[in-house]
Amino acid sequence: MKDMDHTQLLQGTPNFPPVALGAWAWGNDNTFGGNYTPQNLKPVFEEAMGRNFILWDTAFVYGMGTSERILGSFLREKQRNSYRISAKFTPQHADRKKENSVEAMFEESCDLLGVSYIDTYWIHNPVGMETWVRQIIPLAKQGKIGEIGLSNFNLAEIKRAQEILAEEGLQAKAIQNHYSIVCRSSETSGILDYCKQNKMTFYAYMVLEQGALTGRFDPEHPFLEGTSRAKNYNKILSRFAQLNQVTGEIAERYRATVAEIMIAWAIAKGTVPIIGVTKISQVEELDNAVKIRLTEDEIGKLEAAADRSGIRTIRMWEKEMLP
Ligand SMILES: NC(=O)c1ccc[n+]([C@@H]2O[C@H](COP(=O)([O-])OP(=O)(O)OC[C@H]3O[C@@H](n4cnc5c(N)ncnc54)[C@H](OP(=O)(O)O)[C@@H]3O)[C@@H](O)[C@H]2O)c1
Repeated sequence: MKDMDHTQLLQGTPNFPPVALGAWAWGNDNTFGGNYTPQNLKPVFEEAMGRNFILWDTAFVYGMGTSERILGSFLREKQRNSYRISAKFTPQHADRKKENSVEAMFEESCDLLGVSYIDTYWIHNPVGMETWVRQIIPLAKQGKIGEIGLSNFNLAEIKRAQEILAEEGLQAKAIQNHYSIVCRSSETSGILDYCKQNKMTFYAYMVLEQGALTGRFDPEHPFLEGTSRAKNYNKILSRFAQLNQVTGEIAERYRATVAEIMIAWAIAKGTVPIIGVTKISQVEELDNAVKIRLTEDEIGKLEAAADRSGIRTIRMWEKEMLP
């Protein structure tokens, strides 16, 4: 179903829990190793929508249109005011022949998703940001996007982008960075505080370290060889196992799973976690997680265990968010 008028759209949107669902794995680009089809993802989508998880995060680059095409096929059956969309312009895939490469990728995503308006549109990373921040401005001015988001930007880059936007009376309202218990540089570098001070939402991605922080994988049960998950995590799964054991002890108190505690931790830190889901049970666990309230003492124990683990999980597209 195509968009209705944008103002009506926002008025009709119900309140929803402070989490987003991630659809990178739906792109089947060999990062995750699954074979996710519309047939096996549709029940996952419906389970999420039924539980009021209505904010979907995707990008054209997730399978070069595959994730957006699958998600769009489900969204077309829904009223536009019943869900929110978060999608991204990826500089490395800009069509530089176009006058405005950001608008061109935006339009392509809209076609795949079956929408004419995207709630949060992101610049996926800061490579060439001076150009892309300027090119996103017309989308905001024409009311085609609800808010501008910056992803994988460090604090200096965020401030520079805000300067450019301020010249046009605009402001980025959202930041999306890697933030898990073993990757807290967005916190130590002051980005979380900056977001609070400037009333911006911080979206945390890879809160579960793509499954390594769920207790499902250990040296005896590694990620599927040949996938990017295997390449990044298999050699350090014994360290994750030790950390997951500490998390598991806290999980027992809540009759929860390790994944639920990691999601609850990200919420307790004031972030909106984006959780990649490929199974109905994962949506059910997400629903449990949003109800858990960790104590300061538990948060301290989890973070101390993460620090002791010495795990570093900076991915090839990322950098340490130094202060
Ligand atoms: N802006 C950026 O640069 C950027 C970068 C990365 C990610 N993201 C966004 O953030 C989203 C989340 O990141 P991600 O998907 O890479 O990683 P993630 O959320 O840390 O992990 C997702 C994976 O964890 C497993 N999982 C999820 N819930 C679980 C549960 N309750 N119990 C056990 N296992 C569970 C699933 O693995 P199985 O499929 O094997 O079951 C799922 O595919 C992405 O989908 C994407 O939308 C953005």
